[in-house]
Amino acid sequence: MHAIGVDIGGTKIAAGVVDEEGRILAQTRVSTEPDDASSIDRAIAEVYAVLSRDHEVGAVGLAAAGFVSPDRTSVLFAPNIAWRDYPIARRVGALLGDDVPIVVENDANAAGWAEFRFGVGREATDMLMLTVGTGLGGAVVVGNELVRGRWGMAAEVGHMRVVPSGHYCGCGHEGCWEQYASGSALVRDARAAAISRPREAAYLLDLAEGVAEAITGPLVTLAAQSGDALSIELLADLGRWIGEGSASVAALLDPELIVVGGGVGAAGDLLLKPAREAYAEALPARGHRPEARIELAALGNEAGIVGAADLARL
Ligand code: BGC
Ligand code: NA
Ligand code: ZN
Repeated sequence: MHAIGVDIGGTKIAAGVVDEEGRILAQTRVSTEPDDASSIDRAIAEVYAVLSRDHEVGAVGLAAAGFVSPDRTSVLFAPNIAWRDYPIARRVGALLGDDVPIVVENDANAAGWAEFRFGVGREATDMLMLTVGTGLGGAVVVGNELVRGRWGMAAEVGHMRVVPSGHYCGCGHEGCWEQYASGSALVRDARAAAISRPREAAYLLDLAEGVAEAITGPLVTLAAQSGDALSIELLADLGRWIGEGSASVAALLDPELIVVGGGVGAAGDLLLKPAREAYAEALPARGHRPEARIELAALGNEAGIVGAADLARL
């Protein structure tokens, strides 16, 4: 059976028709407003209409960037999108005009599941997936099973406290890992550097046409890839936060593989090398245990689509 997977992020939704081998047969994307839940519903209905015109689909999976209810119908809370106790499956269902089952999954769980089934985690039994984008998402596979927790919201690793009295977070607390290891953190720090260290930020500011607020994650990556020292440093900081936090997760889960996905993954080794180094340095009992590999997501930004579709079929 083919299924449609819809990945709903802070600023855009991407959707595709996915077959049982995890292949995407057709794909589309639209921009959305994070503060308007009903416009997101309408955008989902739109991409469904486009994709279902030429494809027979038996299920729809919605990968949502938030805390998903255990019956997989609603988003209870989202730090970066205006969902509060939001019955998204019902709302979207009312707009589709088709009687197709709709299943909601956490976006990072969906991405992690896709990597585990079809991507870089194919051979693994125990893995941690981190999606580094607007937020920091997590998925945990233990003994070949996706860990959901008692109420569906396990693996919300982005909200583990890593800095006492640190930056405020959309979840209502301070010092969450997400505030240090996400695309939003990268952009916040890059914009701050553009103001406090203008000489070092000259190249980055140039790319942003002189406007600090116009600096984006992809711009930092681009600058770093052209050798800009400040941008390289910013990505290395982010990478170190990823590695160090992962070492704490390893204390709990002992994964063999840590998969890094999300938009920031485009930075490749500029991110992964510092992540690997920091992971090794912070790993408890280092030298006396095997060390997890840290790898880029194989399915890139499409992992959420593939995983949501696959989980909707199960
Ligand atoms: C949310 C998670 C989500 C992650 C990535 C976090 O802020 O709490 O539910 O998976 O961002 O989108
Ligand atoms: Na998750
Ligand atoms: Zn938080």
